[in-house]
Amino acid sequence: MSHNTFGHLFRVTTWGESHGPAIGCVVDGCPPLIPLTEADIQPLLDLRKPGGSRFVTQRQEADQVRILSGVFDDGNGPVTTGTPISLMIENTDQRSKDYGEIARAFRPGHADYAYQAKYGVRDHRGGGRSSARETASRVAAGAVARKVLSSVLGDAIRIRAGVVQLGPHRIPDDALDFDAVYDNALFAASADVVPAWEAYLDGVRKAGSSIGAVVALEVTGVPAGWGAPLYAKLDAELASGLMSINAVKGVEIGAGFGSAELSGEDNADEMRIGDDGQPVFLSNKAGGVLGGISTGQPITARVAFKPTSSILTLRQTINRDGAEVDLRTKGRHDPCVALRGVPVVEAMAAIVLADAMLRHRAQMG
Ligand SMILES: Cc1cc2nc3c(=O)[nH]c(=O)nc-3n(C[C@H](O)[C@H](O)[C@H](O)COP(=O)(O)O)c2cc1C
Repeated sequence: MSHNTFGHLFRVTTWGESHGPAIGCVVDGCPPLIPLTEADIQPLLDLRKPGGSRFVTQRQEADQVRILSGVFDDGNGPVTTGTPISLMIENTDQRSKDYGEIARAFRPGHADYAYQAKYGVRDHRGGGRSSARETASRVAAGAVARKVLSSVLGDAIRIRAGVVQLGPHRIPDDALDFDAVYDNALFAASADVVPAWEAYLDGVRKAGSSIGAVVALEVTGVPAGWGAPLYAKLDAELASGLMSINAVKGVEIGAGFGSAELSGEDNADEMRIGDDGQPVFLSNKAGGVLGGISTGQPITARVAFKPTSSILTLRQTINRDGAEVDLRTKGRHDPCVALRGVPVVEAMAAIVLADAMLRHRAQMG
């Protein structure tokens, strides 16, 4: 029993802990002859890496990726060889003493108690395996997945995400601008909200507290036909991939929970034939997936991240000795984990879609 692997034909296994010497992943099933260098991966890791602004953890990690295997240059530039691609990122800024208190006490809202109850042992330093440091490996694997997708679809496929709600503050659906996301420190999908959101998050941060947020995902350029009924529904696999991200407590596809309030008329994505003779949908309540299969419409999802559980406010908890204690969590933490969650959401979408594309081609030729 391991459960550290995600995917079927495009398979990602991650390894490592927050304060170990390194973290990384093995990507198996990647087709051969896809040009791949560390420069294809590093820019995406740089988007997720800590220490970039006052709104994220101040842990300073270069998050420099190394390709250890599965890529070879036979004279025409480095390409994938069809063998397992091993990627490694060294941990360089561990400060384990900050975590002395949680060696015994369980942070309320974090994984400490559950890991201890299950395994009887846990690497408490920085949260060990439950630390979102692991998501750097997902982003690295996601970069490989993007290369697989673009090897077939070129620039036609675009995978974009952004923060659309910070605590109670929500960007209206008709104001979303994914182009703005990586131009502001909050990864907000609208430049207009940034000053007010910065002031709000500064307040949260200075109070030693944290706040939840919603990240929206939009993938354009996926052709009709990927995914499969019934147990490999594309929306189910996407939800599984997104839900597996640390701190994610909700995933909705298309109209999601809002569809429960719709009538059949309002929910129907009516169809017509466009000028080019191709089908056109007049709305996208389905989020680009019907019957578990992509329709060619944008694939849309919303992902709810809970607030960071490591906060400076005293909280009631228990410790390993069975005593009731009050805990204030020290260390360096993100005041809103959804911000750095944005590149992780994009990476998981890329991994799910690369896997779906390879499986579609395996069945359909
Ligand atoms: C990008 C990212 C950064 C995170 N940073 C922190 C953090 O600094 N402190 C913390 O307590 N939790 C952080 N988390 C959340 C924990 O990793 C997560 O809550 C924990 O593993 C328990 O798992 P669960 O919330 O999925 O149940 C982060 C999550 C993400 C996605």
